[in-house]
Amino acid sequence: LASIEVDLAPVEEGQAITVMWRGKPIFIRHRTEKEIEEAKEVPLSELPDPEARNPNIDEGAPATDANRTAEGKEPWLIMIGICTHLGCIPKGQAPGDNKGEYGGWFCPCHGSQYDTAGRIRKGPAPENLWIPPYEFTSDTNIKIG
Ligand code: FES
Repeated sequence: LASIEVDLAPVEEGQAITVMWRGKPIFIRHRTEKEIEEAKEVPLSELPDPEARNPNIDEGAPATDANRTAEGKEPWLIMIGICTHLGCIPKGQAPGDNKGEYGGWFCPCHGSQYDTAGRIRKGPAPENLWIPPYEFTSDTNIKIG
């Protein structure tokens, strides 16, 4: 399928789901206030990859928290769940998963650590987790692809 629709209504704050799109896992996390605040507080100068990696906005845009989410929808972080190092699937979606030192995602293959905006913070991965092309089609529905 070229594109899929996902109903976000059942996903409560603090929960995450994974859906498949074009054979790739898509991580969807309904972030808590705390997770959003933590992501916003990080100075851009501390980010190994300064780019948003979001095809829905201008190429090369900075990796601010706002640029990693859709306008007005900042609790929803929607990303391709493939480590940008060598393609493993990071942990951090399931309850009880090791989310790493930055509370986001942790790649068990070689130890890359991603923050609550999915940005690489430590380890060998060169880029932030990529955002897929998507749009909100209603308040609680998204179309990916
Ligand atoms: Fe994720 Fe190497 S594939 S750290």
